[in-house]
Amino acid sequence: MSIAQNTETTAKLRCISCGATPDSAGQDFRCTACGDLLEFFFPGWTLDQLDGAKPCHHTDPSVLKDLWLKRRTSRDALDQSGVWRFRELLPQIPNLEEHAITLREGNTPLYRLPRCARATGVENLHAKHQGMNPTASFKDTGMTFAASSAHQGGFKWVACASTGNTSASMASYAARGNMHSLVLIPDGKISWGKLSQSLDYGALTCQLRTDFDGCVHILNELVRQKPVYLLNSVNPYRIEGQKTAAIELMEQLAWEPPDHIIVPGGNLGNSSAIGKALLEMRERKLISRLPKLSIIQAQGANPFYRCVHEFGGKKLEPMTADTLATAIRIGNPASWKKALRVLQATGGEVEQVTEVEIAAAKAEIGADGIGCEPASAVTLAGLKKLRRSGFVKAGESVVLILTGHLLKDPDFTIKFHRGDLFGGTAGETEAAQARYLQRAPVVLDANLGAVIAALDTAEKS
Ligand code: F0G
Repeated sequence: MSIAQNTETTAKLRCISCGATPDSAGQDFRCTACGDLLEFFFPGWTLDQLDGAKPCHHTDPSVLKDLWLKRRTSRDALDQSGVWRFRELLPQIPNLEEHAITLREGNTPLYRLPRCARATGVENLHAKHQGMNPTASFKDTGMTFAASSAHQGGFKWVACASTGNTSASMASYAARGNMHSLVLIPDGKISWGKLSQSLDYGALTCQLRTDFDGCVHILNELVRQKPVYLLNSVNPYRIEGQKTAAIELMEQLAWEPPDHIIVPGGNLGNSSAIGKALLEMRERKLISRLPKLSIIQAQGANPFYRCVHEFGGKKLEPMTADTLATAIRIGNPASWKKALRVLQATGGEVEQVTEVEIAAAKAEIGADGIGCEPASAVTLAGLKKLRRSGFVKAGESVVLILTGHLLKDPDFTIKFHRGDLFGGTAGETEAAQARYLQRAPVVLDANLGAVIAALDTAEKS
């Protein structure tokens, strides 16, 4: 199957605040006029509709849906990717065949969560597991696209500030594309699993004595001085690639949108991307209605929750963030304006959840045989709150976006099950409520009787 680019997706950059439409982006991906973020838009799409043009190969929704489905059986590497398969809804990258870096990302499963469904009283509950991507987090969908754009731009070095998953993903795609990668991570605040990935993929990994927001600050300065390609989610190519998670989800649901989609919120690139995809799919008549997109933050890292609930969306007050869900330990989210826009456009809600609620939700998702990392579990914890507030009703359908794999952060999981996670913290008393979910390993003498006794005890409990 050909990978020729279609001509209808000619995309342009636009500033989200002042509306300037620069021909290209600077190294920091910010508007040169006002300093805000840039996004891609597709002027050709509106033209199709204004012209009243007959649907052609790339504009007729049913033709697109068939084309995307057919690509699943293609042997072409781009067709096999769950990102590039949907390239009609993405900007073009010139000479794509030469520059595409793909690891067959996307193509992630949509699972039913029967136990969680019973616990929340939401019968129709699914999880789209983005942790089943090549580097085990949702970052790969945006990374394949943005790393390919870096390659096309002839960059030798790519760089990111990260809480661990972006860096793992970036290091992998850079290695595949023969580019060098520079990782800035907060010292001691990312999980071993994620750190080990960027080391193995050959990144220059700098652990800075600061938090994620401090790493972002230094990186922004760096890209203004050095010819280094910025791969954080302020890069609009990242957002475009990440849109495909929502497109693939709709395809998996036979283009019948659920009532709710729930995502974790950190730097807010993912929620922005999923929301953008939903709006564009509706614009292109691929779906007929919008799910409500809700965003959940950890209580200790809740600047967006406060932005919406305390400041009416008027401003975002940066904070010093703290949560055991280190992936979302972010106090100054770059994409908050984009996220606010899609939140309002879809009628979603923002919630915050406690550390114990996150840990309990993670164990509940694990008990469904799926598992995820702590930051992903905020979705289930948030759903419980949204059920209690009546925002999500029992008969409604809900999809949780699980962003990272269980094995990203085994330390958290082991400490939780051993009962050590909250020792000496403010959550210690509340943690007693989650004790029934703990499954600590039992150490026994190596004899059959001891194992049978353990089995009998487990059966009784
Ligand atoms: N879940 C996981 C597992 C993450 O790694 C992140 C962000 C998020 C959720 C939040 O997504 O930032 O798009 O709102 N991780 C980034 C990183 C910041 O550097 O890996 P977001």
